[in-house]
Amino acid sequence: MTQLKNDLLLRALKKEKVERPPVWMMRQAGRYLPDYIKLREKYDFFTRVQTPELATEITLQPIDQVGVDAAIIFSDILVIPQAMGVEVLMEEGKGPSLPKTMKSQADIDALVTADAENNLQYVYDALSLTKKELNGRVPLIGFAGAPWTILCYMVEGKGSKTWDKAKQFAYTQPELAHQLLQKITDITIKYLKKQVKAGADTVQVFDSWAGSLSPADFKTYAQPYLLQIADAVKDDAPVILFPKGSWYALNDLSKSSASGIGIDWSLNPQTARELTNNSITLQGNFDPAKLLAPIPQIKHWVKEMIDGFGTQNYIANLGHGITPNVPVDHAKAFVEAVKEYRSE
Ligand code: CP3
Repeated sequence: MTQLKNDLLLRALKKEKVERPPVWMMRQAGRYLPDYIKLREKYDFFTRVQTPELATEITLQPIDQVGVDAAIIFSDILVIPQAMGVEVLMEEGKGPSLPKTMKSQADIDALVTADAENNLQYVYDALSLTKKELNGRVPLIGFAGAPWTILCYMVEGKGSKTWDKAKQFAYTQPELAHQLLQKITDITIKYLKKQVKAGADTVQVFDSWAGSLSPADFKTYAQPYLLQIADAVKDDAPVILFPKGSWYALNDLSKSSASGIGIDWSLNPQTARELTNNSITLQGNFDPAKLLAPIPQIKHWVKEMIDGFGTQNYIANLGHGITPNVPVDHAKAFVEAVKEYRSE
């Protein structure tokens, strides 16, 4: 195995001493990068995802062009419903759509569960190829969607501001919701373990729509499944949980088997440290919209953010994915500001 030349991310996750915080950006592979946009003109979304050479090329773009300290494999969270036999379409500029939504026991019984993770060989191939091409430059992050967030898409059939159909399903048919969440969890655990075998150094679980739930509902429909995943995968690789919007769960999650927790900008760094008793590595939490401000202002805000979290047990990142309208220079300035950080 090639020795990593830059293992800042892995050391931060192990709470080891680092010279400076590692930095990467959620959704760093794609959208705002001109070379990605060129590939998008030639190949449709799932062709890019399912062709290991293309996925590798896209994964490496932000390493070469923006200077981040980690690569995240180019894929999507919705490959899990696909592996379960559910059709997922990606309409350029519009987002995902799943024509057949989950409504009944029969819908859930019809899902492919046995060996579903074996339908995702192209992800493992992309990870192995990327690992080889990285040649130890930076660690490689694998990922999956959290069960609650995947349920949201499988029930709603598309993105939503309120997720009211997904919540109606959970609140009126809780038993079915738990069956579905458990099926997704079981596959996700096997999927993440295989990602690690294929070359992922760490894995992140994206619970992008966790914040649509109240604290009590998060504890019912999201948390138990996140904990199952962290428990099952922790001996394979460090696990980062990203429960967007669910700041109220930070104390509980800080006691879990996860090595890191991603947070958004709805709370400040000091509060996040207090809620987690400074006991776990935190990742975040720059508002991606702030990347649209002038570069000197971005650099000033990054310094404030690191002052707040401290340089140890910390991974500099955004509080959610980078948006397509961010100029590449501004993304670079964010990364540079972390690398240049000095406390005064
Ligand atoms: O982080 C990375 O750069 C790796 C690649 C990655 C993609 N999707 C590629 C992608 C990752 C980690 C994801 C995760 C993902 N996918 C999430 C969780 C993260 C988050 O932002 O909350 C979610 C909710 C999805 C589902 C999804 N995929 C949506 C809602 C959309 C359309 C809207 C959008 O984000 O553009 C996608 C499409 C998608 N997945 C694109 C990319 C680069 C954009 C489509 C394109 O460029 O052709």
